[in-house]
Amino acid sequence: MKPLSLLLSLSTLFLVLLYNPQLQTLAKNQETPNSELAILIKIKSFLDPEGQTLTSWSPNATTYCDGSFEGVACNGLGQVMNISLQGKGLLGQIPPEIGQLKNLSGLYLHFNGLHGEIPKEIAELTQLTELYLNVNNLSGQIPQELEKMENVQVLQLCYNQLSGSLPTQLGSLKKLNVLALQYNQLTGAIPATLGNLETLQRLDLSFNRLFGSIPMKIADAPLLQVLDVRNNTLSGNVPLVLKKLDEGFQYANNTELCGSGFADLKICNASFGPEAPSKPEPYGPQSKGLTPKAIPQSAYVTRDLSKSKSKSTNSGLAAILGAILTTMLLVAGIFTFIWYRQRKQRIGAAFESSDSRISTDQFQVNETANRRSASPLISLEYSTGWDPMSKGQTRSGFLQEIPESYVFNVDDVESATQFFSDSNLLGKSSFSATYRGILRDGSIVAIKRIAKTSCVSDETEFLKGLKILTSLKHENLLRLRGFCCSKGRGECFLIYDYVAKGNLLQYLDAKVKTGPGYVLDWSTRFSIIKGIAKGIEYIHAIKEKKPDLVHQNISAEKVLIDHHYTPLLSGSGLHKLLADDIIFSTLKASAAMGYLAPEYTITGRFTDKSDIYAFGVLVFQIISGKTRIGSSIRQSAELGKFEDFVDTNLDGKFTELEAVLLGKIALLCTHECANSRPAIRTVVPELSSVGSSR
Ligand SMILES: *[C@@H]1O[C@H](CO)[C@@H](O)[C@H](O)[C@H]1NC(C)=O
Ligand SMILES: *[C@@H]1O[C@H](CO)[C@@H](O)[C@H](O)[C@H]1NC(C)=O
Ligand SMILES: *[C@@H]1O[C@H](CO)[C@@H](O)[C@H](O)[C@H]1NC(C)=O
Ligand SMILES: *[C@@H]1O[C@H](CO)[C@@H](O)[C@H](O)[C@H]1NC(C)=O
Ligand SMILES: *[C@@H]1O[C@H](CO)[C@@H](O)[C@H](O)[C@H]1NC(C)=O
Ligand SMILES: *[C@@H]1O[C@H](CO)[C@@H](O)[C@H](O)[C@H]1NC(C)=O
Ligand SMILES: *[C@@H]1O[C@H](CO)[C@@H](O)[C@H](O)[C@H]1NC(C)=O
Repeated sequence: MKPLSLLLSLSTLFLVLLYNPQLQTLAKNQETPNSELAILIKIKSFLDPEGQTLTSWSPNATTYCDGSFEGVACNGLGQVMNISLQGKGLLGQIPPEIGQLKNLSGLYLHFNGLHGEIPKEIAELTQLTELYLNVNNLSGQIPQELEKMENVQVLQLCYNQLSGSLPTQLGSLKKLNVLALQYNQLTGAIPATLGNLETLQRLDLSFNRLFGSIPMKIADAPLLQVLDVRNNTLSGNVPLVLKKLDEGFQYANNTELCGSGFADLKICNASFGPEAPSKPEPYGPQSKGLTPKAIPQSAYVTRDLSKSKSKSTNSGLAAILGAILTTMLLVAGIFTFIWYRQRKQRIGAAFESSDSRISTDQFQVNETANRRSASPLISLEYSTGWDPMSKGQTRSGFLQEIPESYVFNVDDVESATQFFSDSNLLGKSSFSATYRGILRDGSIVAIKRIAKTSCVSDETEFLKGLKILTSLKHENLLRLRGFCCSKGRGECFLIYDYVAKGNLLQYLDAKVKTGPGYVLDWSTRFSIIKGIAKGIEYIHAIKEKKPDLVHQNISAEKVLIDHHYTPLLSGSGLHKLLADDIIFSTLKASAAMGYLAPEYTITGRFTDKSDIYAFGVLVFQIISGKTRIGSSIRQSAELGKFEDFVDTNLDGKFTELEAVLLGKIALLCTHECANSRPAIRTVVPELSSVGSSR
């Protein structure tokens, strides 16, 4: 070998080392083999540069799998499996090191303020099934490397500042169910390759800057239910086959779209017809036979160049050695550059295969193989609703009786609650969690999230229950706005009006006399009792027609208080949706609080008289201001010694007549013998007969 060619080889080798990020990371990996703790700490320093949020991620920890690291969950082998940091106010960036957590299956970083680019190294997470980066401030392009994420099912990148075009490579994510890219600044065309996705159900590209026509091939995706391309600048003929999606296909605010068969679109000029497309469909039907890699992508050429430029500037070593080697490089530069550009592809491919990733060739084979065997295994469906009820489908049976306005979709619920961000959590019970949320129309709601396993298993029963729930309307019942069930998430959501002043339990045992409503005044208490009675009366009146409708779970916690201190009974009819074991566990709780009528232990049945019993306990609680109703309170009421059972926090400011009446009602309602308890319809007029105009 001549010295010059030796020099050339050395310099090229050096350049390859310098320029090839994969080699660099490989070297780094060998220094700190397998230390996921170190990786996590590194990631923390990027996600949370100020160190204000992830304080539990301590570099001195001995383990991160025991729950001590907020949001980190491990598999049985002590490898990081999930990172759930949604809505934590993270303001940093996503570091390339994330790609080193090889066993990560879920990454949930949505609803933060993360900025910077999505590192292409994230694509090394080949076990990842769910990637939620939505609602951040991420910019730059969607890395085409994402094609390596062969297990990804949900890709949520919406509501960011992503730009550039959609990588055609996304068409090789063969398990993808949901691709949500709305509200970015994406430009370019819709890749027809997305039509290859056998499992794709939802594709949301709305509110971007996409142009070109809607590729006909997109309709090939066999499970596609939702295609949303609203507010782009798409043009040309809308493929008629998309009509099969019904309302799942949304295309408004694309002024240049045309087509026959869609009522609100103008008919295309002849030149727009499929026979003679005036604008070629980019990556359209013509490219059907080609693999994604073979499709020209001008956007990525420029991108690669800018990438390698920045790599060279951010390396200090490069600067020093670069100066020494300047002369040599000047001589060898041009040759080397050409050589490098040619080699880069090959080296990259070699690395992918030796790294047990899919090489280019394998990829092609796999893809065709997978086209043939449509995978029946959809572990995560993610439909607009619970399948039988989704808006696009024909509604039959009970569903026809449920007004459509009650049917929400998962997106509504997710965006309302900022993806169930912890900061919106209002409360948790044994079977549900309740979140505050803001609907698109600006109204504030409380969303109750119930695991499907907590619901009755029989769908017909469930739908019947929903029908009852939607039919209940009274000024003293919490209003149900709607519901949504997602088979994929395995959850149902009940959407209620949000009630500002919390529940009655929060006003019991109150110690603070001043401040916003801690010790309720007498007339408020009286009107609250009256309101509760009216709510129960309403339910029991329906019961005449539907014998098994009683509330079953009346308690101070179930009485919500609105701005005007009107009580709203919540949870009415809810037991109709819940599985038996869940109902029993709520019963246990209500027994512990003293609301359970004594005969229940014998009969095991709920009647309107058991509701009355709970109401009586509630009346005692409200007038005494105490959670626990001991026998002394009862005795005082029996003896008419109201000064002993009326809340002393009132400082004697109450109406004796009303106190006597309430004491009497509470006693009667909590009578040991169910038959001796009054019906609520006789209680309501009695309450109305006295004083307070409220
Ligand atoms: C970790 O240990 C070092 C030295 O023992 C100590 O200075 C540091 O404060 C510790 N850091 C944390 C977060 O506990
Ligand atoms: C990771 O998240 C998925 C999806 O939420 C969940 O099914 C799985 O149980 C989680 N794994 C661990 C170890 O928490
Ligand atoms: C974790 O990841 C490594 C590297 O990808 C893989 O070999 C191993 O099987 C994974 N372990 C589990 C439990 O998935
Ligand atoms: C997002 O980034 C833009 C600039 O890139 C900045 O103006 C804006 O304030 C950021 N938004 C948030 C929520 O951080
Ligand atoms: C939707 O597009 C129209 C123009 O077609 C624009 O005026 C409007 O602001 C866009 N809406 C949103 C929410 O971006
Ligand atoms: C279309 O754009 C207009 C504003 O130009 C906006 O009011 C309307 O809501 C948009 N329609 C849809 C379906 O996004
Ligand atoms: C159809 O052609 C006419 C005349 O050339 C033109 O004015 C009109 O904008 C065209 N329509 C569409 C949808 O391009």
